[in-house]
Amino acid sequence: MIQKFNDRNKDIKVWIDGVLLHRDYAKISVFDSVVQGGDAVWEGLRVYNGRIFYFDKHIDRLMESAKSMNFVNVPTVKEVKEAVFSTLKANVMKSEVHIRLTLTRGKKITSGMNPELNQSGCTLIVLAEWKSSIFYGKELSLVTSNIRRNSPLCLDSKIHHANLINNILAKIEANHAGVDDAVMLDLNGFVAETNSTNIFMIKGGVVITPLPNACLPGITRGLVIEICKRNNIYILERDISVTELYNADEVFTTGTMGELARVNEIDRRKIKNKGGLLARLQNLFKQLTETDGECIPF
Ligand SMILES: Cc1ncc(COP(=O)(O)O)c(C=O)c1O
Repeated sequence: MIQKFNDRNKDIKVWIDGVLLHRDYAKISVFDSVVQGGDAVWEGLRVYNGRIFYFDKHIDRLMESAKSMNFVNVPTVKEVKEAVFSTLKANVMKSEVHIRLTLTRGKKITSGMNPELNQSGCTLIVLAEWKSSIFYGKELSLVTSNIRRNSPLCLDSKIHHANLINNILAKIEANHAGVDDAVMLDLNGFVAETNSTNIFMIKGGVVITPLPNACLPGITRGLVIEICKRNNIYILERDISVTELYNADEVFTTGTMGELARVNEIDRRKIKNKGGLLARLQNLFKQLTETDGECIPF
């Protein structure tokens, strides 16, 4: 699925370290750590009806990722929030917006891997774009990737880092297969997530998702678990094999970018798509997006 350029984004302003620049001039240094080694952490946030959905959870995860990566001179929560609000204000954006927030280790004094070459603090980028849910109204086709999702033995998926090669290689397989995304397995062959989202299955009224061992503990994933608990829907976190996905009643992915998206087929096995529980969860999620989130103060 190739996304087309949205003309509404042609003159957006992007925040880079305290300066708002037209997208054509929004550039970072070749000495920045994100260029030198993908050495950055990031968050994807969504704005619904004048509110930033689950803002605090995203900022907490950004800060935890930065701490895990041992970043120094990290901006405060207040500074990051103000940068986001200023960017939205400069672009007069209040709804149907996706924000990509990137925090890099900052500029190096010379090229190289060593974080000791970073002597001037982090770089903060706030990229807010007009973008609706990318999977809205779509049913996804997936393939299982040959690329394994990182285990904590290699690179802990709990760090939301910008070194996305693991996922990009899986996405290339999906592209070559002509489908939307790829299911990634963990080192034991159990389902971890897709290259860009968490994954759930429903069988006999029970909602099941993999333990967050080799997947990002997604904020939307957490919200779906919470929705189930609040509404007495049976929810389990456990190992899932691909065969179980093939034979599920319903399968769906979760993420800020694509919300709760129904899966129609995996490796050319059609999912039964019966039961109606996913539609109920989608509806409960939508209700939250209409009321929850931190108000944009302008
Ligand atoms: C690999 C991966 N899994 C899952 C997600 C979904 O996470 P969230 O629900 O916090 O957007 C993302 C989003 O960035 C991701 O990159």
